[in-house]
Amino acid sequence: VDIDAVKIDYEDVLSEVARGLKPNAIRKLTPLLARPEIISLAPGAPSPDVFPKEELAEIASRLIRERWFSALQYGPTRGNAGLVQALAEHLQLRGFDKVSPANLLITTGSQQGLDLATRVLLDRGDVVLVELPSYIGGIVALHNCGARLVGVQQDDGGIVIDDLREKIDQHRQLGHRVKCIYTIPNFQNPSGVTLASDRRHQIIEVAREHNLIVIEDDPYRDIYFSDDAGSLTPLSAIDPSRVIYINSFSKILAPGLRVAWLVAPEPIAAKIEIAKEGADLSSSQLDMAIVNEAMRSGLVNRHVPGLRRFYREKRDVMSGALEQNMPAGSDWTTPAGGFFVLYRAPEALDAAALLPAAIEAGVAYVPGDAFFVDGSGKNTMRLAFCRETPEKIIEGIRRLGAVLRRSLEFED
Ligand SMILES: Cc1ncc(COP(=O)(O)O)c(C=O)c1O
Repeated sequence: VDIDAVKIDYEDVLSEVARGLKPNAIRKLTPLLARPEIISLAPGAPSPDVFPKEELAEIASRLIRERWFSALQYGPTRGNAGLVQALAEHLQLRGFDKVSPANLLITTGSQQGLDLATRVLLDRGDVVLVELPSYIGGIVALHNCGARLVGVQQDDGGIVIDDLREKIDQHRQLGHRVKCIYTIPNFQNPSGVTLASDRRHQIIEVAREHNLIVIEDDPYRDIYFSDDAGSLTPLSAIDPSRVIYINSFSKILAPGLRVAWLVAPEPIAAKIEIAKEGADLSSSQLDMAIVNEAMRSGLVNRHVPGLRRFYREKRDVMSGALEQNMPAGSDWTTPAGGFFVLYRAPEALDAAALLPAAIEAGVAYVPGDAFFVDGSGKNTMRLAFCRETPEKIIEGIRRLGAVLRRSLEFED
């Protein structure tokens, strides 16, 4: 057989799920952003300026030298037992009274938590209610298991409960199986919005009425900018029997460690454990050992207050720059924590169509439409303040304001 002459139709080889996979809108932008003159308000990654690199280097080298026999070995699928125990104790102090190691699982990033949770809960065609807008990685994980994603309106207080109820009723009437609510309650990616306290209770009520599971994705929880914003009750603490709670060390230590955790009702945690065994046997023993040491030595607790100050200053700078530069008829969120502002341009503007002009002017953002599962949000942009310096944020927003004003003049 002439191997070179054989043409393989890869579409035919791919699974149904793979044929439906779409490239992540943010990753697609990455090659455009490599030019150094571009101020990029697009990437949502934490700033490397605040990775505690010296401390982590010291812990890593000590662990490899002194505890190589476990840190470089395979280990239990649930995760490093010391870290699971440390997390259980840490969570009990923070409102998760009923958490025990049987509810806990360490995952390879919270992205894996989302992937595993959706895999054990959802069949093709099951309805999941997601916020408008929502996190791209969550949307991808849900797509991967064939879920039907239904968008629910958000306002400044997060999910609009009447709309949530209406969407559930609509899909029930269509004969669809409504299974889950996916929410990012604190300083949401991409909107920066925080779910109001009373709505947390209302969402749990709705979940109880309709027998739904809530997936609570909470990686920004500790990056809050005021004490009020830091004290909101997790949905999981309101009703642990209905919630899979997912959190991560990515934003408070470093995402390269890929160490995160989830808390789930015991029967669900047990299924996720089996699904995880099939995915990667366990998360990296070395990374988990490093994080365990970072927790136990107090590094995490010492480090996080500085992160809050660091990101709050950038939030303030971005809010001020938006105030000064954005055209009339636009608005934006003022996040109480996290990394992101959602900017809403006057209706006529299409943020995706405007991106080449913005890049030409030396500033980049993520067009918001990719975050809205109902195809709305074309006039929105996600502006991340986590990465660039305050000076560059100011200049980036100045450039963006000029591009927007020029484009609006053009529209007139
Ligand atoms: C809302 C949300 N969930 C999950 C993740 C994934 O984080 P990781 O897998 O690094 O824990 C991110 C990362 O940006 C996020 O914004």
